[in-house]
Amino acid sequence: MAKIVGGIGCSHVPSVGAASDYNKTKDGYWAPLFDALPEARKWISDLKPDVMILVYNDHASAFSLEMIPTYAIGTADVFKPADEGYGPRDVPDVHGHSDLAWHIAESCILEEFDLTIANKMDVDHGCTVPLTVFFDKPKQWPVKVIPLCVNVIQFPPPTANRCFNLGQAIKSAVESFPEDINVVVAGTGGMSHQLQGERAGIVNTEFDINYLDNLSANNDINRKKTHLEYIREAGSEGIELIMWQIMRGALEETIVEKFRKYHVASSNTAFGIICFENKLL
Ligand code: DHB
Ligand code: FE
Repeated sequence: MAKIVGGIGCSHVPSVGAASDYNKTKDGYWAPLFDALPEARKWISDLKPDVMILVYNDHASAFSLEMIPTYAIGTADVFKPADEGYGPRDVPDVHGHSDLAWHIAESCILEEFDLTIANKMDVDHGCTVPLTVFFDKPKQWPVKVIPLCVNVIQFPPPTANRCFNLGQAIKSAVESFPEDINVVVAGTGGMSHQLQGERAGIVNTEFDINYLDNLSANNDINRKKTHLEYIREAGSEGIELIMWQIMRGALEETIVEKFRKYHVASSNTAFGIICFENKLL
């Protein structure tokens, strides 16, 4: 049977992708962040993941205000890096796992989570930047990736609690997939940031650290926060942190933190990555 072997929360700041693409990772500005990543990358590769379910939000690249799925699962075999205005990033295509994606769609929909099925979807920085963080610059990404998009762009997004519950439904879906494969779930976006308006550039370190601390043992605090609380405390795009709740819901109740890096600033946002394994009882 398939097994969830790890969970990762990770920001998907586009400039982190650009720093890698343009070989700036040793520069003074970027080194403090990139120098921390080999340890996380080793932890991920030691898990021997076959598939990563990568939760992110599309930033008006594949979707637009014409069509706003609350949750969309990518069932295709291949997803191309999206052109976000400067041409697509020069990173490998993302290869999906169609069988598992369809199995998750079926299982979740029959458990009454109505996922939208995306048979064709370009993936933007929300998906490709975390892949760079996790795997550096390989010729091919070393895992199959099932992209799972969440609407956090246009009100009303789903609640953090709904995201957590979807994570639980994904956990049962994965655990009923008959192949012996290892699956990692990554929730991306955040941490505190706001890209426009009067509070553009806001970073709330205290909020971010609390969010990271609470994921292990007090996640009900994160899970029960309202949209308004997320936005008030973490900025308008801080709402992206609800996507980490899908990752958290897909893990067991008791988890062990294996890696954490929090860094301010990457462009004008806070960057966080945290890695978990289920606690063996
Ligand atoms: C930026 C964009 C994002 O989608 C994000 O999550 C963080 C930062 C940016 O444009 O800087
Ligand atoms: Fe984002």
